Amino acid sequence: MKATVLQTERLWLDSPVLSDRFAVAEYCRDPLFETFMTLPWPYEQRHADFFLYRVVPGGWLSGDELTWAVRESEGGPLLGIIGWRREFGDIGYWLGAPHRGRGLMTEAVIVVTDWLMSGFGRTEVAWECVIGNAASVSVARKAGFSFTGERPTGLTFRDGSHPPAWHGVLQAGEPRVERPGWPT
Ligand SMILES: CC(C)(COP(=O)(O)OP(=O)(O)OC[C@H]1O[C@@H](n2cnc3c(N)ncnc32)[C@H](O)[C@@H]1OP(=O)(O)O)[C@@H](O)C(=O)NCCC(=O)NCCS
Repeated sequence: MKATVLQTERLWLDSPVLSDRFAVAEYCRDPLFETFMTLPWPYEQRHADFFLYRVVPGGWLSGDELTWAVRESEGGPLLGIIGWRREFGDIGYWLGAPHRGRGLMTEAVIVVTDWLMSGFGRTEVAWECVIGNAASVSVARKAGFSFTGERPTGLTFRDGSHPPAWHGVLQAGEPRVERPGWPT
């Protein structure tokens, strides 16, 4: 399938491109990623290049892994990444450190999940994070996900483990309201 461009009041989401390779490599070296993400660590330029050359185009072609660059305008610099994987039916996301704290990822999650459920036929979207990732929880909660409990990650971490994780789900047609029950 062809990559779908999505827009919000503040954001332009399109497929990441090769010219994003230095931004991806720089942002993925954030020490938080070692704990909270399954990406390679230490993260090197070749990891960003593989992601942009192979994973992103291959994922759109098959429709099994849909990845968007988060930008503030068409052709603008990459601020972060949001993606959906068919295998787990879940979304994953990150923002480069300088771009956090403005609620941009919540806006991106809402537009991507709206499209997944209205334009792509999904009836629900899953979310998970390693226990303690308060910023990720906050994004999921503000985007209207329901907390579904604590259990190991579905994703395999780089040491082969499935650490304890918080899980959530968003059902198609549900109103975008913050729901009770999230870990504090
Ligand atoms: C998750 C992430 C995209 C959120 O982006 P963001 O711009 O920080 O999101 P927001 O501005 O909406 O802030 C999220 C909330 O988390 C809070 N927060 C941020 N860092 C925090 C921390 N270390 N501890 C506690 N709360 C934190 C913010 O105060 C904000 O609170 P609020 O909802 O009460 O306003 C970003 O923090 C990130 O890229 N983290 C590293 C990668 C990652 O963990 N991705 C998710 C994997 S599941």
